[in-house]
Amino acid sequence: MRKIQIGLLGFGTVGSGVAAILMNNPYDIDTRSHSNISVKKALVRNLLKERPYSDGISFTDKPDEILNDPEIDIVVEVMGGIEPARSYILSALQHGKNVVTANKDLLAIHGEELLNTANQYGRDLFFEASVAGGIPIIAAIRQSLTANSISSVIGIINGTTNYILSAMTEQGRDFADVLQEAQELGYAESDPTADVEGLDAARKLAILSSLAFNTRVKFNDVFVEGITKISPADIQYASELDCVIKLLAIAKNQGDGIEIRVHPALLPKKHPLATVSGVYNAVYVVGDAVGETMFYGKGAGSLPTGSAVVSDIIQIVRNMEGKASGLIGCGCYRNSPIKAADSFVTGYYIRLKVKDEPRVFATLALFFAEAGISFNSIIQKPRPENNAEIVLVTHPCKEGQLRQALDSLGSYSKLDKIYNVIRLETNGMH
Ligand code: NAP
Ligand code: HSE
Repeated sequence: MRKIQIGLLGFGTVGSGVAAILMNNPYDIDTRSHSNISVKKALVRNLLKERPYSDGISFTDKPDEILNDPEIDIVVEVMGGIEPARSYILSALQHGKNVVTANKDLLAIHGEELLNTANQYGRDLFFEASVAGGIPIIAAIRQSLTANSISSVIGIINGTTNYILSAMTEQGRDFADVLQEAQELGYAESDPTADVEGLDAARKLAILSSLAFNTRVKFNDVFVEGITKISPADIQYASELDCVIKLLAIAKNQGDGIEIRVHPALLPKKHPLATVSGVYNAVYVVGDAVGETMFYGKGAGSLPTGSAVVSDIIQIVRNMEGKASGLIGCGCYRNSPIKAADSFVTGYYIRLKVKDEPRVFATLALFFAEAGISFNSIIQKPRPENNAEIVLVTHPCKEGQLRQALDSLGSYSKLDKIYNVIRLETNGMH
């Protein structure tokens, strides 16, 4: 049997998961790939650390011992960050090695450069683990759904924020308290700002939408809002409106351009994504031929993410055997424009506090009517000291219209406070 040797750049959560899977399931992996696959070396910072699943692996802190090793066929980058990961991947490709990476931060910025380099050297650069951990969504879009024109991709693709929002909804817990728990469980990034401010989901959405719409979408193209302003009161009102609040990553082909946004949204409880709870991820994809599809699974963690990496390794080994390395390439053959935020059309939930006096509601309604916005539902609750808390839910309107109404509202003397404005997503509801 042919021998295939792997060089791991990084041996943390994901790297050790890759080693564990290769050690625990050798018969099936070797039989399916017609090769004997093993990890030869791993690059780490701290050579003194005790590491699980490290039998037979030689550890180094010198990247060239992997990048220049002619016996290493496949380099797996699971160290994270932009540099030196980018330079190491470029060097591995230039040395004729195929590469697997789980690095969404890097791909969302330098994906084009890396994929073009892989193409130039006739090598595979696979990245299934970079989006939604163990869910095979990249292979689904890149291979299984290529017959389709994809109209939308809507995902819950950050496990930490879904874990936080689920615990706030199901157990009535506070944001800060659940965030700490998510960090302790190892779901959150080292700096959880990337999770709670929606940046991690935006990076993953840039990757997914580039593939779905064959157009290069970068991290900076994505409109992003995080979940830090979501309060237990918003979650309670959402429930009264038969909705849940989720951090959604939304990409839609609108014909005249692509709409790409990550933000918290009220989602009807009947929507297929509304039941995705805890650290789980799901991606809902609509294609013109296949119709609606949904992919569900664990979006983070050592073994789920390792599963995606090892599957990429096996595919690369099969391509090596069939002399088919580097065939898929970049795939961004279109150049669709990215739509500006003020053209987004959604419903809005607006929670505010006003004086509980005659004409106040009529004036509110006038501000929205003047912006051409009509209401879908309204909740009003009396509060102490002559105040009323009002939740307005609008029919779909353009973001620009909403801003006009909020500007008028902002200078209204009877307004005490706008607590929150949250979008409403009904795509996929029939
Ligand atoms: P991690 O646990 O922090 O592990 C990083 C590993 O890389 C460690 O072994 C570290 O060495 C090594 N490393 C980092 N910088 C290095 C440098 N400059 N030189 C040498 N070694 C270096 O990270 P992880 O959670 O496994 O994540 C790895 C990648 O997978 C990231 O791109 C992440 O976004 C992505 N990802 C992670 C998950 C997940 O569930 N964790 C899911 C999907 C994608 P030491 O051990 O010596 O510190
Ligand atoms: N912090 C990320 C999440 C890890 O919570 O989804 C997986 O990319």
